[in-house]
Amino acid sequence: MDHWNAIENHPVSTLDGLFESDPKRAEIWSFEQSGIYFDFSKTHLDNGLLQEFQKLADAKDLSEQIEALTSGAVINISENRAAEHTAERGTGSATSVENARLLKNRMRGLVQAIDDGALGDIESIIHLGIGGSALGPELLLEALKIGDEKYQLAVISNIDGCALEPVLERFDAQKTLLVIASKSFTTAETFLNARSVIDWMTEQGVSDPFGKIVALTAKPEKAVEWGIDESRILPFSETVGGRYSLWSSIGFSVALTLGFEVFDDLLAGAAEMDQHFKSNAFDQNIPVIAAFCDQYYSQARGCETRAVFAYDERLTLLPDYLQQLEMESNGKSVLADGTALDRHSSAIVWGGVGTDAQHAVFQLLHQGTHLVPVEFLAVIEPGHSLATEHHQGLLLNCFAQSAALMAGSTSDDSNRNYPGDRPSTTLLLDDLDGRTLGALIAFYEHRTFVNAVLLGINPFDQFGVELGKEMANALLAGDSNQMDASTETLKNRAFPA
Ligand code: F6P
Repeated sequence: MDHWNAIENHPVSTLDGLFESDPKRAEIWSFEQSGIYFDFSKTHLDNGLLQEFQKLADAKDLSEQIEALTSGAVINISENRAAEHTAERGTGSATSVENARLLKNRMRGLVQAIDDGALGDIESIIHLGIGGSALGPELLLEALKIGDEKYQLAVISNIDGCALEPVLERFDAQKTLLVIASKSFTTAETFLNARSVIDWMTEQGVSDPFGKIVALTAKPEKAVEWGIDESRILPFSETVGGRYSLWSSIGFSVALTLGFEVFDDLLAGAAEMDQHFKSNAFDQNIPVIAAFCDQYYSQARGCETRAVFAYDERLTLLPDYLQQLEMESNGKSVLADGTALDRHSSAIVWGGVGTDAQHAVFQLLHQGTHLVPVEFLAVIEPGHSLATEHHQGLLLNCFAQSAALMAGSTSDDSNRNYPGDRPSTTLLLDDLDGRTLGALIAFYEHRTFVNAVLLGINPFDQFGVELGKEMANALLAGDSNQMDASTETLKNRAFPA
């Protein structure tokens, strides 16, 4: 029997049964790392299943793959390069770690210079980027800002002018820094927005708009061609993937706004998680165990989605961030060798914030026909100073949801019946600070990687986004000859000739 069959056919008890048969389950299936408590006890993982997954992981050379990832080997096969986001945090080949350190120092120098007034009186920053060049910075900003920052930072990604226009109305052009974040330095949305910001600066009488631009990119030569002075270009390595890039110079606007010490803490927390991931056996390795759960529910229980609910307003953007990280990485139908994948790849990741989500989507989680593994996140230290009832209510609601999903409740009235036995994991953070958030994001990166290795896919390319870009460009260029009748009609209705 192959390893997947063994996993799919492994007999598992109900969650209640698992707790009854092992009074220490809550303790045994929980782990702590870098100020985060990870509780996997309300999943169906048991020792037998763990052993089957360990056999699968061995067959997939997971240890060797972790070593390859963290030592700068060429693991992004289709693009013939390494995936070196961990080098940004100090783990990788000596050359890449040193290169990242030097680039980080350059970034630190520019932050210091701007703080010291080298670009004049700056009070606001417009950070333009999309996908990995925006989601990470915005997540960090919303999670870690405390409200008395020296600069106002607006992260704008969408080509829709409704995103940019209100910011231009609010900011003083004379005191605004424009940060263009684009790994490729070609992304259409980012450059249309950049041109609009420069036009606005010019209209507002800024004498040298290009003197107020900072570029964050893996293609510094393109930024130079674009007219940006080399002293304000912060490069990062081509081997750092877009959705893994918040650790690189892509984090510049956040480091400037929140302070470089917060950015250093973020890197330190991620580095701790890297060491955990590199050095622990699979049965004690938190990202590995999380991926085992993901694969169990996806392959053995047919779950197509996974839901993430942060019981913390500051983490509202976490599901968005994870959608790109997991779905752009693992939403593939071919194996690394180009042959077809014969099972589901990435789970569809969705979610929201508690307690809001309880009053909106939890009905389906508790009683719907879909089985959805849920991930809860909560932070012990509140992010506000209002009465303790707020935070108690928030956290206890979170814990009650996972208890209710697991326990269920029977009733003679089928409308009021809760089947229970519905799995969840809970991540309880001591505090929401740079270090903890860094460790949390690195945990998700490594979990995504382990899922890819178990499936046999390359998580570091994203060819699936190209066709849509090409067709949008064709439409923009007026070349709709090749389009279907529906698309042609929509275009003509929106933009009559
Ligand atoms: O279109 C997808 C994508 O390439 C993402 O992978 C990336 O994060 C985003 O676009 C932005 O790309 P760039 O940083 O090169 O502008």
